[in-house]
Amino acid sequence: MFQIKFKDGMGRVGKLETKHGTITTPALMPVIHPRKQTIDVKELGAEIVITNAYLIYKDEDIKKKAIEEGVHNLINFPGPVMTDSGSFQLSVYGDVEIGNKEVIEFQELIKSDIGTSLDIPTAPYVSKEKAEEDLKITLERAKEAKKFRDDNGFELLLNSVVQGSTFPDLRSYCASELAYLGSDLYPIGAVVPLMEMYHYDQIVDIVMSSVSHLPDSKPRHLMGAGHPMLFALAVAMGCDLFDSAAYVLYAEDDRFLSPRGTYKLENLLEMPCSCEICSNYTIDDLKSMEKSERSQLIAKHNLYVSLAEIKLIRQAIYEGSFLELVEERCRVHPNLLNAYRRFSHYNDEIELYDPRSKKSAFFYTGSESINRPEIKRHLNKLRTFKKKKNLVLLPSFKKPYSKNVPNNLGDFYIYGEENKINLKNTDFMVVDIPFCLIPLDLDEIYPLSQNEYPKTKDLAAVNEIEKILSEFIPQYKQILIHNKLAKEYNLNLYRIYPDSNLIKYEKNDVNKIIAIADYQFGFGAGEALFNGKIKIEKSKKTGKIRHIYCDGELIANMRASDSFFILSKEGAKRLHTSFKSPCLRVIVNSDSEPFAREGKSVFSKFIVDCDENIRSNDEVLIVNENDQLLAYGKALLCYSEMMDFKVGQAIKTRKGFK
Ligand code: GUN
Ligand code: ZN
Repeated sequence: MFQIKFKDGMGRVGKLETKHGTITTPALMPVIHPRKQTIDVKELGAEIVITNAYLIYKDEDIKKKAIEEGVHNLINFPGPVMTDSGSFQLSVYGDVEIGNKEVIEFQELIKSDIGTSLDIPTAPYVSKEKAEEDLKITLERAKEAKKFRDDNGFELLLNSVVQGSTFPDLRSYCASELAYLGSDLYPIGAVVPLMEMYHYDQIVDIVMSSVSHLPDSKPRHLMGAGHPMLFALAVAMGCDLFDSAAYVLYAEDDRFLSPRGTYKLENLLEMPCSCEICSNYTIDDLKSMEKSERSQLIAKHNLYVSLAEIKLIRQAIYEGSFLELVEERCRVHPNLLNAYRRFSHYNDEIELYDPRSKKSAFFYTGSESINRPEIKRHLNKLRTFKKKKNLVLLPSFKKPYSKNVPNNLGDFYIYGEENKINLKNTDFMVVDIPFCLIPLDLDEIYPLSQNEYPKTKDLAAVNEIEKILSEFIPQYKQILIHNKLAKEYNLNLYRIYPDSNLIKYEKNDVNKIIAIADYQFGFGAGEALFNGKIKIEKSKKTGKIRHIYCDGELIANMRASDSFFILSKEGAKRLHTSFKSPCLRVIVNSDSEPFAREGKSVFSKFIVDCDENIRSNDEVLIVNENDQLLAYGKALLCYSEMMDFKVGQAIKTRKGFK
């Protein structure tokens, strides 16, 4: 019912299937008032809407119509309709005149596509006792609703709302319990008051502690988050659905929504965008109108920009520039920036989902970028690398660095006991923002080469580099540091090196392919793959390495866009022989074996186990439960997604072994 199509960070573009059609996520569900609705949201591009089952239930006239003709006819929307249960009314008025089972039954009766049990939206900052008490009821009702739905064979897809107030541990506990229950969708509730207070950092803690315990294979809905300035950050935390009552509520107050914030009509000199409304009306036109007519027009603008922001987010995920969009959006309010900084505390989690390679370069957009998961990932990888005895640190020059190392490097300083160093036993690394340390043999792989940062260095980046240098330097016997770096990075414990003119980086393609293979597949992969008489074929046009043969047999191709290897059949066999299960492997059951051998894509439901280190876009080995190599291909999902999904593709198979 839900599949992931594209990913960036923890953001995903997916397909959600309901009995009234399939929609693309992230999606915005305009809130439809069952009686007061005047705007045709479908015309503006809404693919799915949400309305309130409790409001329909309480209103005898529309209740009758909803039961007889269905909720889709009632609100005149043919696509998927989600219904809420009245919990929000419960949180505002303290009580509702409907029971939990009753509200589920009613949502089925009016043919809602996705229904909600009667959760308790606990306010933020209550006592822990209160939050626990409420949570107990929320969980009981979610379980009751699920059982009631299943026992009666209802078609209704079921929302189970994560509650737990502002206690991350309660949110995590609630999410785990609901995950175990196996509901269809997971809203995260009771964040509206935090949004109204601009406590976005609290929202980050709540969403991250919830999402990390929810299944990857189910959509998550950040309830009540209807302001487009929040969408990007919320999607970055793994949210797939939003609802907006804001488009109407803000309009009634003469306020225009925008991803940059909110504009009050009285403060506008110019119409704020180029939507149909903003193009066809002037500020004066609006001001001279009847209030109801004006509200209607502003609501249309509000919905237009909200839906446009969702499309922009989907496009950015598709092209791999989504984290840049998030960084841009989080600069519109200091509290959002604070939230984005908070978000980077969850980097270890985010890194698990972030694809290994993307279509877009990494753009450094400000000091927060130094905490991005791609950088953490690279440095973690370097930590596992076998280090040589000595280290030469070079300043940055034009990329690709390895092709542009000057012949005469200039002066160096030395740190260590002896005055001579053996360059044969030396790692050469460039020190640069944002990836800190870039081994010259690896300088062309994504994103070590595919990145841009401003020429002026900011303090956060300089501090990070100093920290990394002080971690790595003690792991070497002798360190030669270029004089430019010694000044830039506060490295003043060093003596001048007398033989600077002897320091030369000897470019060596074999060392390079071995280093890349080790980086991509794990230490030892280079030796395992390129064993025999090596022949390296390069592109005539670009001079870049393209094909690598050993003893006349193709082992791997190097992809031009990111310099990662794509295996040949022989390459896959060699890795399979030299790395023990489950390394690099996705293990599939016997149903899948013939399809994999035919070179057909592998679907998630056939996956039995997989290497925890697999990230989206990794090259992986496909094996059966006896560890026989069936095929190899490109992972579309990461480890936890592969293990969790029961529908959709997991691996794009390159070749099978018949
Ligand atoms: N709408 C906004 N917040 C909530 C919530 O916590 N629960 C439900 N059911 N609906 C909401
Ligand atoms: Zn507009």
